[in-house]
Amino acid sequence: MKPAGTLQIAPSLLSADFGALGSEMAAAERGGADMIHVDIMDGHFVPNLTMGPPVVKSLKRIARVPLDVHLMIEEPDRYIDAFAEAGAAMISVHVEVLPHLHRTVHAIKALGVSAGVVLNPATPVASLSEIAGDVDYVLVMSVNPGFGGQTFIPRSESKVREVRALLDRAGNAAPIEIDGGIDHHNVGRVVAAGASIIVAGSAVFHSPDPERATRELKAAALGAAATVPR
Ligand code: DX5
Ligand code: ZN
Repeated sequence: MKPAGTLQIAPSLLSADFGALGSEMAAAERGGADMIHVDIMDGHFVPNLTMGPPVVKSLKRIARVPLDVHLMIEEPDRYIDAFAEAGAAMISVHVEVLPHLHRTVHAIKALGVSAGVVLNPATPVASLSEIAGDVDYVLVMSVNPGFGGQTFIPRSESKVREVRALLDRAGNAAPIEIDGGIDHHNVGRVVAAGASIIVAGSAVFHSPDPERATRELKAAALGAAATVPR
């Protein structure tokens, strides 16, 4: 895991053309993607369905950057091995579905994969207090998960600051990832708040030129990062 201050862009394939995932991913990589965000949905935790380990395995064969797998599923413990085996470099799990979150986080780490925990918009930052020293990254959802193209929830900005303060109190330099409704208008604000892994789906893949959109979003984020005192 790169340290918290290193700005990284993570285009989300959810908004890509699923019939051309390889070339969509390659365009984002040419635009400077630091990782590729892969959204896994089960139709239970969230209403939508996406893909499973075989697709991740195929992406891994052609990816030039790490795969960041976001599990929006009800029983992630059942699938962690399969996603690690498929080639995930990072796996994040939702606090809301895990009564034994500490065990899950350490199970992910034991597979040699970076372990992230995710907070839905209505989930309090305090739910991380006992795990703050154990996580490799925290993903703050800035929309309710399930769909691309939703509007950024403004409260997420101060939530990122609260997560940063919690991690700092735990002595953990783990980065904060933000996911949902990010575009070149609001990316500066979330970076200033302390997010350093920036997920963007529709802002990249619903643009006519995903390579250029990735490059421009990264430039906007890096511009904001340069003004943030660390
Ligand atoms: C939403 C997913 C996101 C999604 C973001 O449930 O977790 O990763 O792809 O899409 P945008 O950037 O369009 O909000
Ligand atoms: Zn996601």
